[in-house]
Amino acid sequence: MIHIRQAQNGDGKGIIKCFNEGLRRSAYKYTGSNRYQNRRDVVDIDAMFQKNKKGAFGFVAVDGKEIVGVCIFLAKDSGRTRHRGEVSWGVHPDYFKRKIGTRLLKAVLTEASKRGFVRVEAESAKNNIPSTKLARKLGFKLEGIKKRGLLIDNGKYVDTLIFSKILT
Ligand SMILES: CC(C)(COP(=O)(O)OP(=O)(O)OC[C@H]1O[C@@H](n2cnc3c(N)ncnc32)[C@H](O)[C@@H]1OP(=O)(O)O)[C@@H](O)C(=O)NCCC(=O)NCCS
Repeated sequence: MIHIRQAQNGDGKGIIKCFNEGLRRSAYKYTGSNRYQNRRDVVDIDAMFQKNKKGAFGFVAVDGKEIVGVCIFLAKDSGRTRHRGEVSWGVHPDYFKRKIGTRLLKAVLTEASKRGFVRVEAESAKNNIPSTKLARKLGFKLEGIKKRGLLIDNGKYVDTLIFSKILT
């Protein structure tokens, strides 16, 4: 059974393992980062969750002891954009199309709302069908298009879609 829980210090290793597997299998070709994550990234991710800041949290999907999906919310601590944050998501390729992305994003939206955030933003490559479907399914609205927003590994540019959801 897949369990969804809040991400915590110590999850970094499992999160990067999941991400790197997605890259290795060419299942993450539309993610903003195409760099294999390393031990330093584990430290950074763990430190982020350890700090327990209002605007930096996530949820993970866990199968046994393995992390098989993650959704992260990041916002600024202060300033005039402190009411909004950006979400990003990824599921292990073996677990695609089992509603894990949906469950993770729902959990993040609920938590963002509890923490008083008003606006959630997401960006997805136009041809990233699973991601755009996920965003729309959970009520994100298309706000615009970034022409040539992403440079994918075959050297081609793809447009990215800018989505937002207002949490009120
Ligand atoms: C996007 C992603 C997180 C979706 O995770 P998931 O657990 O497979 O998603 P779900 O099963 O919850 O599906 C969400 C919706 O997308 C649809 N969907 C998922 N994969 C799909 C596919 N390959 N083709 C068409 N629709 C798809 C589902 O049908 C579902 O809609 P529905 O409930 O109306 O049927 C996953 O595909 C992923 O990790 N992709 C690679 C990483 C990535 O691109 N991240 C985003 C960078 S912006």
